[in-house]
Amino acid sequence: MAILEMKHVSKYFGKVAANVDVNLSVEQGEVHALLGENGAGKSTLMNILYGLYEQSSGHIYLNGERLKLRNPKDAINKGIGMVHQHFMLVPTLTVIENVVLGMDSNHAILDLKKSAEEFAEMAKNYDMPIDPWAKVSSLSVGQQQRAEILKALYRKASILILDEPTAVLTPQEATALFDVIRRLTAEKLTIILISHKMNEIMAVCNRCTVLRQGRVVATMPVSEIQDASQLAELMVGQQVKLTMDKKPSTPGPCVLKVQNISYKDKHKVSRLNKVSFQIHAGEIVGICGVDGNGQSELVRCITGLIHPSEGQILLGAEDISKEHTSEILKKGVSHIPEDRHKMGMIMDMSINENLILMSFHQKPFSKNKLLNWKWIRSHNEDIVETYNVKTPDIYERAGNLSGGNQQKFVVGRELDRKPALLVAMHPARGLDIGATKFIQQRLLEESERGAAVLLVSTELDEIMELSDRIVVMNSGNVVGIVNQAEATRERLGLMMASEV
Ligand SMILES: Nc1ncnc2c1ncn2[C@@H]1O[C@H](COP(=O)(O)OP(=O)(O)OP(=O)(O)O)[C@@H](O)[C@H]1O
Ligand SMILES: [Mg+2]
Repeated sequence: MAILEMKHVSKYFGKVAANVDVNLSVEQGEVHALLGENGAGKSTLMNILYGLYEQSSGHIYLNGERLKLRNPKDAINKGIGMVHQHFMLVPTLTVIENVVLGMDSNHAILDLKKSAEEFAEMAKNYDMPIDPWAKVSSLSVGQQQRAEILKALYRKASILILDEPTAVLTPQEATALFDVIRRLTAEKLTIILISHKMNEIMAVCNRCTVLRQGRVVATMPVSEIQDASQLAELMVGQQVKLTMDKKPSTPGPCVLKVQNISYKDKHKVSRLNKVSFQIHAGEIVGICGVDGNGQSELVRCITGLIHPSEGQILLGAEDISKEHTSEILKKGVSHIPEDRHKMGMIMDMSINENLILMSFHQKPFSKNKLLNWKWIRSHNEDIVETYNVKTPDIYERAGNLSGGNQQKFVVGRELDRKPALLVAMHPARGLDIGATKFIQQRLLEESERGAAVLLVSTELDEIMELSDRIVVMNSGNVVGIVNQAEATRERLGLMMASEV
């Protein structure tokens, strides 16, 4: 029986048709995948179901009864919970404060302590232990996500919407999440899952609905999906190239030489321990490791966001280990950051402005301190077209773009600078299958052009497919460097888990 039905739902943002005449039927206890390329309207549809947006037309039915949702509180009261693509916890508050925030309370004074005890108990029962008194800003992304899921469960969600829950998780965390999902559905919870990852869809979902340009093009059992290319074709409406051509690399001079760098965090915990490796022009060096083993700190040292306590970082012949980020970027370094929202873009600015954040002070972007808007406009329109950024025009507020399209323009901006060194952290995060392959192919082209590329990713397949050499990290140490030809999942997995 359908527990939830959306009938003829459409949503327009001005002239943008985000959802058009969508019919979605979800059965109790199933995991229903919502699929589609970046900008297809997945998040919008789920935001309507969560009461964040009001549909332009159409109706929602829960257990056959028509729902009128004015805000998320209405949705929560009806048992609908949502974990957003970009988390919505208040970072300065504790976990439990976030959980009770906006909840109806029967008590005159909210009993935070009692809520915290109940919450911790529930978390333990679900094998997702979390400290209710921890400040959200001190939590890892994986823990924040746990907090979001538990928050929805604490509020007695019977339908849980997960919008790209694994985009920011390590493969290990994703596996743990799937165990939780299986448990929840065994308890008759219903889950709607948005994902771009084929293996996840096959592993945990029962049925899927595919959106293309806001419209439903198919609903079917996932057992009927043949392979990734069939799915991609359904999403895009035409065949998508899913293979890559990596040519043998011909390394040039050394571009980046990291020499014995160490770094301790503010609690004096060692995060990097005498890390050394080199990248030559024309070479892609992948960094692999379980997330949190120093990759982030390494990237931040190279891009000047933090400084190593010892060791040297040579860009060409120059030591940049004590330089500021702005100086380093000026020397021909591009950075695709791990968190596009915090480090990659300014949500309230237009795409046009976001695209010139790094270069507005340079020719031909500006002359005699005057911005050359005419040139900038045509240049930026080229980037948007090349990287297939879906937007009404370049003057759109960047925050209005779908998550994947935000990622595309950040990547486009960084590659457009034709860097000598490209530092790419999770470059395909949140991208659909087609866009992922396109960006990966672009990384290969950058190395063929002669750039040195540092690729950090927790996706082993991505690392193995693109990298000439792979640096394996564990607890802030380099445990080994493997050539592409010798890299297997097993070998890398063993090294990542080895004792240091
Ligand atoms: N608040 C908004 N204002 C204007 N346009 C919006 C807004 N939210 C979404 N859109 C537009 O609606 C369309 C659908 O976006 P949505 O975020 O639903 O896509 P999505 O399928 O979730 O994509 P992704 O996989 O990249 O997350 C996009 O063209 C987007 O630019
Ligand atoms: Mg989305």
